[in-house]
Amino acid sequence: MKRGEDTYILGIESSCDETSAAVCHNGKILSNIIATQAVHTQYGGVVPELASRAHMQNIVPVVDQAIVDAGITLDQLDAIAFTSSPGLIGALLVGTGFAKSLALSLDIPLIAVHHMQAHVLSNLIADPQPEFPFLCLTVSGGHTQIVLCKDALNMEILGETLDDAAGEAFDKTAKLLGLPYPGGPLIDRYAKEGDPKKFHFPEPQIEGLNFSFSGVKTSILYFLQKQLKADPDFISHHLPDICASAQYCIVNILLHKLKKASLQTGIKTICLAGGVSANKGLRNAIQEMAEKYQWKLFIPEMEYCTDNAAMIAVTGYHRFLAGFSSPLTVSASARAAW
Ligand code: KG4
Ligand code: ZN
Repeated sequence: MKRGEDTYILGIESSCDETSAAVCHNGKILSNIIATQAVHTQYGGVVPELASRAHMQNIVPVVDQAIVDAGITLDQLDAIAFTSSPGLIGALLVGTGFAKSLALSLDIPLIAVHHMQAHVLSNLIADPQPEFPFLCLTVSGGHTQIVLCKDALNMEILGETLDDAAGEAFDKTAKLLGLPYPGGPLIDRYAKEGDPKKFHFPEPQIEGLNFSFSGVKTSILYFLQKQLKADPDFISHHLPDICASAQYCIVNILLHKLKKASLQTGIKTICLAGGVSANKGLRNAIQEMAEKYQWKLFIPEMEYCTDNAAMIAVTGYHRFLAGFSSPLTVSASARAAW
């Protein structure tokens, strides 16, 4: 196995509703192609069967484009990294099957990558990179975790959600307000014009570094039911304030636990990852906290926060350097330990 000076890795991501392929050269991204599946919008959520079918249609052109944009040919690749877990099993199987076939035909190593570890390592894409050890708050539509990253191959989950993910909390709140899926970005947009302290939604009291968001949704639901009885147009009259107040509550839940993790571990290098990193309220609040507690804060570019194959390629690169490879019998799994 060639390791070292001139390493090209192809990354493939197909865990949910984005078909993505990327090439990295010595850990630097040369291309990152993402085909987002629009088909799900009309259903108010990702439909697994439709996601698998769309991955089947997209995977060949997306990989082709990633190779072309990187300015290389397939025979220059040293290994193929792919998301093996967690995710929608039918969606994962498309990327897994494709990655295996290509690795077999090119006679190069195959490297299975855990999607959540890759989100953490998306912070290694930009320059300057965070120094190890760092803490990463990963916030997406499916996951909410605080991860202690000791090095590229060694991570520990310090806390995670016991029920809904942060992105789900945004999306479910948006649904209660009659906003289309995914509602997170819309809440963010309306919140900019609203008063975050206008309505109070209580923070759940959860021990340790774990999170819970299901109570937030319920308290917003009961609050709206009560207000709508008095004023049937309550939502349209107060949309920005409701969005700002709900966002304030979700962001506070996230940042209280992150602050606690930093105090407990003594680690002040803090990273953010996942699609909810786009949220302006979260970005502003974490910047303020970073200034207050002298954190070194890293937030990847948006292209690398949402699901993408660049983070899979970079994670694959570090595993390749360490001599890891997966057998061709490796399988995808909807849930897998780290
Ligand atoms: O990481 P991601 O792109 O996909 C996965 O879940 O894997 O995250 C998508 C989630 C959705 O729940 C979406 O509503 C949320 O991130 N999101 C936002 C914002 N942009 C995306 N939530 C709040 N504010 C935003 N600006
Ligand atoms: Zn993800």
